Amino acid sequence: MNATLPTGQDLLDAIDALRVERDAVILAHYYQEPEIQDLADFVGDSLELARRARDAQQQVILFCGVHFMAETAKILNPTRTVIVPDLDAGCSLAEACPPDELAAWRAAHPDHLVVTYINSTAATKALSDIICTSSNAARVVASLPEDRPLLFAPDRNLGAWVQRETGRAMDVWPGTCIVHETFSEKALLGLKLDHPDALVVAHPECEPHLLAHADFVGSTSKLLRFTQASPATTFIVATEPGILHQMRKARPEATYLELPGVGDSCSSCNACPYMRLNTLEKVYLALRDGAPEVDLPEALRLQALVPIERMLALG
Ligand code: 13P
Ligand code: SF4
Repeated sequence: MNATLPTGQDLLDAIDALRVERDAVILAHYYQEPEIQDLADFVGDSLELARRARDAQQQVILFCGVHFMAETAKILNPTRTVIVPDLDAGCSLAEACPPDELAAWRAAHPDHLVVTYINSTAATKALSDIICTSSNAARVVASLPEDRPLLFAPDRNLGAWVQRETGRAMDVWPGTCIVHETFSEKALLGLKLDHPDALVVAHPECEPHLLAHADFVGSTSKLLRFTQASPATTFIVATEPGILHQMRKARPEATYLELPGVGDSCSSCNACPYMRLNTLEKVYLALRDGAPEVDLPEALRLQALVPIERMLALG
């Protein structure tokens, strides 16, 4: 198959030609390979990408991210064809909270409202009262009636951070991101010793003991904006290192130190193995073949749409 694929600049040109021919928009998350970010029409965090997908006018949305992001695009813009480079690009958080288990948790707490992180399947979203992203989680939780107890799924670290930010107690599902849970506190302390002027920026999916060292906590877009606006010139970045590409483009004179993960069996545990399944070649094939496509039953789509729209209505 690969023998017939264009390479180098020819591959980039072929993707550009197909993008026009298929009337496609290419959306990419910051954790994509730099060359995918560079050809995308828009690069953003999960909230910005959901909004871009909702508003897309093109016939085809090629979503370079992970499956739940493409599914959210389809939920929000069902008349468009949503395709992905690799259908196996999942997410450990989405896997951590199957719909039947969330349904049982919900049934055991009938008076609670269910807040679900966007890193979840459509079936899990459909059982939720409202969705949040890492960018708006504290705001979403703070918007909910104070007399209603809350269930938060599936990220226990984001849930713990939101509780600290809002002062609102919640019952939290025990899911984790396999990338952010591996960041090494020892390595972080070592980097701080070597770079005493560096600021630590961290994604809220990191463990609380790591977030305790952070000068700023936020979604990928918020981390990027913080490093752009900060007078500091060195940053220790506690999230997937794909974001460093945009940080370096925005402020090439600054120094960005990626935090290593700790793992026995991998050399780069800080890279998301799902996000990194996507390649330029798969981008080309997806546009050429109009596949793999992400679709879902209309009844499920409509159920999942309700809690997503509640989140988007918050602005
Ligand atoms: P963002 O909301 O920052 O895009 O994060 C999504 C994600 O999957 C982080 O691991
Ligand atoms: Fe999921 Fe973690 Fe990968 Fe984000 S980095 S897509 S939360 S596995």
